[in-house]
Amino acid sequence: MARAKITIVGAGNVGATTAHWCAAAELGDIVLVDIPQTEGMPAGKALDLMEASPIMGFDSNITGTTSYAETQNSDVVVITAGIPRKPGMSRDDLLATNAKIVGMVTEEVKTSSPNAIIIVVSNPLDAMVQRALQVSGFPSNRVLGQAGVLDTARYRTFLAMELGVSVEDISALLMGGHGDTMVPMPSCTSVGGIPITRLLNEERLEEIVQRTRDGGAEIVGLLKTGSAFYAPAAATAQMVEAIVRDKKRLIPCAAYCDSEYEVGGYYVGVPVIIGAQGVEKIVELELTDQEQSDFQNSVEHVKTLVEKMGTLVAG
Ligand code: NAI
Ligand code: 2OP
Repeated sequence: MARAKITIVGAGNVGATTAHWCAAAELGDIVLVDIPQTEGMPAGKALDLMEASPIMGFDSNITGTTSYAETQNSDVVVITAGIPRKPGMSRDDLLATNAKIVGMVTEEVKTSSPNAIIIVVSNPLDAMVQRALQVSGFPSNRVLGQAGVLDTARYRTFLAMELGVSVEDISALLMGGHGDTMVPMPSCTSVGGIPITRLLNEERLEEIVQRTRDGGAEIVGLLKTGSAFYAPAAATAQMVEAIVRDKKRLIPCAAYCDSEYEVGGYYVGVPVIIGAQGVEKIVELELTDQEQSDFQNSVEHVKTLVEKMGTLVAG
């Protein structure tokens, strides 16, 4: 069986680290692409990573380039191109710059890899994945965004730290947009099968949820020069794996919801089954009144961002 071809656009912190996790898991051959101004950087990172393969024992060809010629006919394209936020900035402050970048990149992807599944990572995530859908014209099952796997991983990490248990025993779900309006789902959070509400009181759980909402800003505040990349890249690699290995993972991702959850044609974080076709099913849960109202609030925020983006790209 041929190896999958995975292109990662943007060879910065998230892109290069995604290449690292994908190579280590032997998910396929990887092409790292960046802008011409970066000259040898993508090729240098790719070669460096290849030179780790005899030590770590993985068989993946990793190349780096500033041209899309080498990305032709990729199975999966991950878009991490764009600017990250700095202290004091919100993800939404990146809208104008990254909408242009994601638009340009998607034009290239559309021509070079017309059958690919696109995973968008660039922020503000929910708007950027909508941009990739608009520009590519791909069916919506082939354009999705990474946010929920990361946000859920942060939540699971904080819960494991709080309870002194293995992260492996924590199963959780967050829905909504990637930002301050993300929606915790205590009814879908359990530890070794025990509902979280039987282990933590409401107040403490809310504090952990708030830390999760602020998880990206917490890392930005510590790093000062950019934003998180190890966990975002691991989350992205998990989505790549679900596609190239047709795993049918049920994970939260930014998926295009129209009638689903009555969203009306926007990307928002929902539980989805991911396999070789990309988004194979959006799982619709009955939400409690509180969850429904938080979800609606999150969708409204995404709509506002997408409308603002429409004005910016038209102007
Ligand atoms: P970075 O600055 O380390 O890397 C970005 C790379 O994109 C740079 O190498 C830059 O040269 C490249 N780039 C810019 N324009 C490009 C273009 N037109 N074509 C190809 N490459 C281009 O930034 P980092 O930390 O890797 O973050 C990347 C993006 O991912 C940011 O927008 C950040 O906010 C977002 N992000 C999203 C997460 C999520 O959960 N969805 C989590 C972490 C980061
Ligand atoms: C994060 O959540 C910046 O979106 C990125 O870390």
